[in-house]
Amino acid sequence: MTAMPDLLGEAFERIQDEVDSAFDAFLPVPDDTRARLVEAMRYAAIGAGKRIRPLLLVATSELFGVNRNAAINAGCAVEAIHAYSLIHDDLPCMDDDDLRHGKPTVHKAFDEATAVLAGDSLHALAFDILTQPDTSTDPFVRAELVATLARASGHDGMAGGQMMDIVSEQEDYDLRQITRLQQLKTGALLAASVEMGLVLGRVPPEGRTHLRAYARDIGLAFQIADDLLDVEGDEEKAGKALRKDDGQGKQTFVTLMGADQARAQATMLVEQAGRHLSGHGEDARLLVELANFIVKRDH
Ligand code: IPE
Ligand code: IPE
Ligand code: MG
Ligand code: MG
Ligand code: MG
Repeated sequence: MTAMPDLLGEAFERIQDEVDSAFDAFLPVPDDTRARLVEAMRYAAIGAGKRIRPLLLVATSELFGVNRNAAINAGCAVEAIHAYSLIHDDLPCMDDDDLRHGKPTVHKAFDEATAVLAGDSLHALAFDILTQPDTSTDPFVRAELVATLARASGHDGMAGGQMMDIVSEQEDYDLRQITRLQQLKTGALLAASVEMGLVLGRVPPEGRTHLRAYARDIGLAFQIADDLLDVEGDEEKAGKALRKDDGQGKQTFVTLMGADQARAQATMLVEQAGRHLSGHGEDARLLVELANFIVKRDH
């Protein structure tokens, strides 16, 4: 019997190269004193991270025959928001972390002011990318991409979840509040990645329901896995400081229900996510493998 090709491993390698090359092209270093800012943006955006969000976007868009370069561009836009969110998440006024992707965080490698500005500029870059004709020649598609990513990034998305996360250090949350926190902080950008693949594929709203359900399930599972990693993971493999959430008083599924039940919950969510894709058969294998990776990952 011949070995199954490593579909997911190859897909990660390919997308990591493509996203790195695209950011390299988007971010030439200027020949003036802004060089420090762009160097910091490149430090955060190139050669780091698993690229789960671009892969989700590209794999979704592939189901609907979208041009790969267009999907990579949109994937870079989501990843630019993600990279900015991590720069700010690591700042002393937030989680106060010194290590990210196995190297010093941006404010450690540069300084706090540069880190704030690099985050701001990656935020802006995301929307700049989405308005370029290379992402879509159709202005209606570009507008829908911008609206989708904007909502997933701001107070109704990632930034709102970060606020709930910070307040959770002072206030007791119940399961409903923790679920909401996780859906916004982490789930929103993962769901936007899938949604943007659907937008590029011009899938009508009634055709989006099952992929949205998939995205909701893996979004929650993803943050449970991150919170389990914080408790049980290996710092070397994760490339970031672990065992911090408890000391900072963060409230997560793990603090609320314990590691075993949280793991069972994540596994249940991923199985459910896979079932939402059954109508696509073998075409959705990459998305199913990606969902499984999300709970099994060690980094
Ligand atoms: C980490 O996200 C932060 C969370 C939203 C939990 P990722 O695990 O996707 O970060 P990368 O792969 O290091 O970019
Ligand atoms: C970060 O969550 C989520 C965002 C950046 C929006 P965490 O604070 O748990 O992520 P890590 O553990 O620092 O990667
Ligand atoms: Mg945080
Ligand atoms: Mg953090
Ligand atoms: Mg964490």
